[in-house]
Formats: sequence, C-alpha cells, structure tokens
Amino acid sequence: MQSNVLLISLVLMLVMAVVFYVAARASQGPEPGPGANGKRIGLIWAMIILGVLVSVASLRPWPHALASTNDVVDVEITSGQWWWEIDTVEIPAGKPIKFSVTTEDVTHGLGIYNPEMQLLTQVQAIPGYTTQITHTFDEPGLYQILCMEFCGVAHHDMINEFEVIAGDS
Ligand code: CUA
Repeated sequence: MQSNVLLISLVLMLVMAVVFYVAARASQGPEPGPGANGKRIGLIWAMIILGVLVSVASLRPWPHALASTNDVVDVEITSGQWWWEIDTVEIPAGKPIKFSVTTEDVTHGLGIYNPEMQLLTQVQAIPGYTTQITHTFDEPGLYQILCMEFCGVAHHDMINEFEVIAGDS
C-alpha cells in the first residue's frame, strides 16, 4: 500500500515536470496558430473530466475502514486491579480483531505483546469509557497482555494471555 502510494506520487511528479518543461519550451517558440484556442478548450475539458473521475474514485472508503465493517471478530476485555478478563477464547490469525476495552476501577494500559514479547499495539482502559483498537495477528501463538500504566501496588502483576489460532483461509 505505502509503496504503491510512493510509486503513484513519483509518476505524477514526473508527469508534472514534463508538462512544465513542455510549457516552458512552447513559450519560447513561434506564436500559436489559428487552431490553438480549440485545442486549449479541449484540454481544459479533458482535465475537468479527469479531475471529477479522480475525485469520485478517491472518495471510496479506505481499505482499513472496509476491514472494520466486514469479517471483524469482536473481543471484549474487562480489567481491574489487577486483572484482565478476555471474553473470547478463539482469536483467529489473519482476521481483524476488534478489542473493546473497559475498566472497573482506575485507568489501565492494555499492551498486546507477541510471543517474542514485542509490543504490537496498545490502548488505554479508561473508567466510564469503552476504548477500541483493531489489530490483525499474522501468526498463531500465545500473546500476552501487560498493563502499561502504573495502577497500584500489583501493576507489574497485571498480566494475561490469549491464544491466536490459525485462520480458516
Ligand atoms: Cu493496570 Cu497497571
């Protein structure tokens, strides 16, 4: 996705540079002939039509917004001093997982770690709110939840884990 955007940007920059170069060269050439005005109007119309097409095409939802409406697995996580409770046993790899996070007492920090204990994503658990984060796990395995915000004497012990199973695709 990122590399596509970079490629499209580079191509468009090159096209713009060519247009400027051609325009700069033409301005030093001979006076335009009698058909020049018709050509110019045709070009303006072509650009208007292209602009409308590009605008309409780019108004479609982004891929991640689409992913959040289809095929999402909802997982609820409640928390408190000093525990995490996860309401879904089966979390498949390769599907977006939407975590909805609440807390019964104070603010906690939900951090999700992969089996190598690298932080993948995190969101705060805030009293009175449900916060959400969506993450797609690439690999099956045992993932850890650690609290990332100091929340009392047993903050360091606020740990849980969940299993990500192989997806059905
Ligand atoms: Cu909960 Cu630190």
